[in-house]
Amino acid sequence: MRRLKPKRESWGSRLGIIMAVAGSAVGLGNFLRFPVQAAGNGGGAFMIPYFVALLVLGIPLVWIEWALGRYGGGFEHGTAPGIFHSLLQKNRFVKYFGVIGIFGPFVIFIYYTFIESWTLGYSFYSLKGVLAQLHDQSSIQAFLKGYQGLEQNSFFSNIGPAYLFFIATFFLNIFVIYYGIRGGIEVLCKIALPVLFLFGIILAVRVLTLGAPDPARPDWNLVNGLGFLWNPDFSALKSAKVWLAAAGQIFFTLSVGIGVILTYASYLSRGDDVALSGLTAVSMNEFAEVILGGCIIIPAAFVFFGPVDVQAIAKQGAFDLGFVTMPLILGKIPLAAVLSFLWFALLFMAGVTSSVSLAQPAVAFLEDEFDISRKKAVGIFAVVSFVLCQPAIFFLSRGVVNELDFWGGTFCLVLFGTVETILFAWVFGMDRAWEEIHHGADIAVPRVYKFIIRYVTPVFLLVILGFWFYQEGLPTILLRGVAEADKPFIFWTRLGLVGFFVILSILVKLAWRRRQNNLEV
Ligand code: ALA
Repeated sequence: MRRLKPKRESWGSRLGIIMAVAGSAVGLGNFLRFPVQAAGNGGGAFMIPYFVALLVLGIPLVWIEWALGRYGGGFEHGTAPGIFHSLLQKNRFVKYFGVIGIFGPFVIFIYYTFIESWTLGYSFYSLKGVLAQLHDQSSIQAFLKGYQGLEQNSFFSNIGPAYLFFIATFFLNIFVIYYGIRGGIEVLCKIALPVLFLFGIILAVRVLTLGAPDPARPDWNLVNGLGFLWNPDFSALKSAKVWLAAAGQIFFTLSVGIGVILTYASYLSRGDDVALSGLTAVSMNEFAEVILGGCIIIPAAFVFFGPVDVQAIAKQGAFDLGFVTMPLILGKIPLAAVLSFLWFALLFMAGVTSSVSLAQPAVAFLEDEFDISRKKAVGIFAVVSFVLCQPAIFFLSRGVVNELDFWGGTFCLVLFGTVETILFAWVFGMDRAWEEIHHGADIAVPRVYKFIIRYVTPVFLLVILGFWFYQEGLPTILLRGVAEADKPFIFWTRLGLVGFFVILSILVKLAWRRRQNNLEV
């Protein structure tokens, strides 16, 4: 006798899914990536392309993903292959486009978790008072390199401590998803998100009350620091690069184009609202990004390092900014150890509420399409992802993480966003799409969005995809600027990614064959 399929999970409350989607959105990107992008791309003027991208790209994609996810969930599909298949049941190929929606989040998960674990390690070393004792840039830099296992020094003789923090972070993620949507992810986000906001507000208030800490340099003050980030340089708007950066930031920060919102929304019921809930999660993310993210790192760096050095600081990668500059700044303020703990704990909570969302699509795929129990699905995910995390950890200096981020965290996002928009607005049809977004809705979406979703969003996406491919995609694919010694590592990573994509496509094929056989029995 065939086993009855267990009932799919569901969210415990409306607040639960909003917090989970906001938790997925609020991540390292809000506090590290956003200030760097804004400061480096025209300051206040960056907010113009940023808000344009939010209105015509981010918010439409949020509604598309929430509506698509709920629709597919009605057919017991929680990931893109099944969801796309439910949209277009007669087409045999459409499900393969959906493979990107499992591949992308999985690839991000395998490097994001390692980086997230640094924030746990740094929270620990902050509490121990170790970080507060380091007062110059070179020792903090050495601490980071030693921690990452990139050099042996007086702080660390090997990667062991970092590896232990990685194991703890990895298993915390697995533990949360093991307890499921309602018992794991929803509980985590309902606790971690308010604490994260509280820590963010404390840090922002502390920075906003710094005044001018050096009496000899009264112009190195907070108002000028905020001005450095927010005073508009309108000439920046002529550059395609600035518009690309704004669109890229919107994708990354809202977690759209990844596939995770589809999965979360698939656990909604048919009558649940998606329009207002989606917008609420966006608002929470924007508060964390523009208000909190914009108030902490850059203004603080300005008042301590002045207008010249802050230029160079803003050009650093987001990681140096978070793991080197920020401890250096906090070390200059009373209660350094506590503030440094708040900073890294905030990043850790932002990270873990995002990484569990990256894990869920793969787990949901196994559960929904192979009828595997959640516990078994989590077990399979844990083993496979643990093995695949290892190259990101041990070949960090060889460009492996950048390569994974390029494919999983950049290319797939824009591509997947384009595919789902075209499928929803054009293939499924805009009238049905509009009806789907409004079904059970607690607000009426302005009618202009019917036009935006149908024409503006796809055209904007295709233009971005084209420009981005030409400016960044092609040089990266052709390995321009990559050191000779790193090329073999990139080659093997790329080959591994292709192999992984093919395996996922075969699994989709097998799942559908199995489904067909079951129907025929
Ligand atoms: N949305 C997540 C972040 O901003 C991925 O980090």
